[in-house]
Amino acid sequence: MSATLMDGKAVAARMTAEIASDAAAFQHATGVVPHLVAVLVGDDPASAVYVRNKQKACEKAGLKSTLHRLPTETPEADLLRTVEQLNANSEVHGILVQLPLPKHICEQVILDAVVAHKDVDCFHPHNVGLLVQGRPRFLPCTPAGCQRLLAEYKIETAGAHAVVLGRSEIVGKPMAMLLVQRGAVADATVTICHSRTRELASIVRQADIVIAAIGKPRFVTADMVKPGAVVIDVGINREGDKLVGDVDFEPVSQIASAITPVPGGVGPMTIATLLRNTLTAAQLFAG
Ligand code: GUN
Repeated sequence: MSATLMDGKAVAARMTAEIASDAAAFQHATGVVPHLVAVLVGDDPASAVYVRNKQKACEKAGLKSTLHRLPTETPEADLLRTVEQLNANSEVHGILVQLPLPKHICEQVILDAVVAHKDVDCFHPHNVGLLVQGRPRFLPCTPAGCQRLLAEYKIETAGAHAVVLGRSEIVGKPMAMLLVQRGAVADATVTICHSRTRELASIVRQADIVIAAIGKPRFVTADMVKPGAVVIDVGINREGDKLVGDVDFEPVSQIASAITPVPGGVGPMTIATLLRNTLTAAQLFAG
């Protein structure tokens, strides 16, 4: 492997230590302990693991976390009521409804119900609007985690061609928005590719920075990557007992100049950003 391995686990640990220090200072000044509530509906094992990891990270940073577990068959109206109670609870600063939700529940209805100043996922239209305008209240967790990795490894983004694979609300769209903004670790020329893109491989081959977020195991192959490109892999796919990303890691790591592993790349950075947003939410509440 010739590429630099972008160690999200190590960077996230440093970020968590910074957040712990900031949260301690905030608590000292205000008496408030930032409190994240995660809502998990159903028994999807992967979601249960993600939520547990988020709770463990809160503990490391000195933040309070509470889990609301609801059965799969919970009616949409009941979940909505839970969200509204959390909105109204002044001891709760951040609310995270773990996705995906069971099929009978409309995700949009539930996510829209989370009050904007507790929306630590940065999904609310008001928060997305602020992000698009370059004055974010919260940072979109996974995209901001990717951006921080680019910063830590001193990847030049200004004028670079960044190709984002995937147009999801959770990663692809906000990722493109962060990279196209004016400012540090941004100022990129951004292309978003998706399932209807023509000549996708030839577009990816033009990228200085590839961000793969399409949820297809090993989709980005070595022949799609320009020598020296930086490759960030957001994918988490299961292949038997193994987790693999959206990038065919071994061959691509021979060609890229820097690459994220799966696991241990973007995943921990997403969680670290969530902690930062929870502290921001508590600061907004106190201020
Ligand atoms: N499911 C997978 N990733 C995420 C995330 O970042 N936030 C929420 N709420 N659910 C998810």
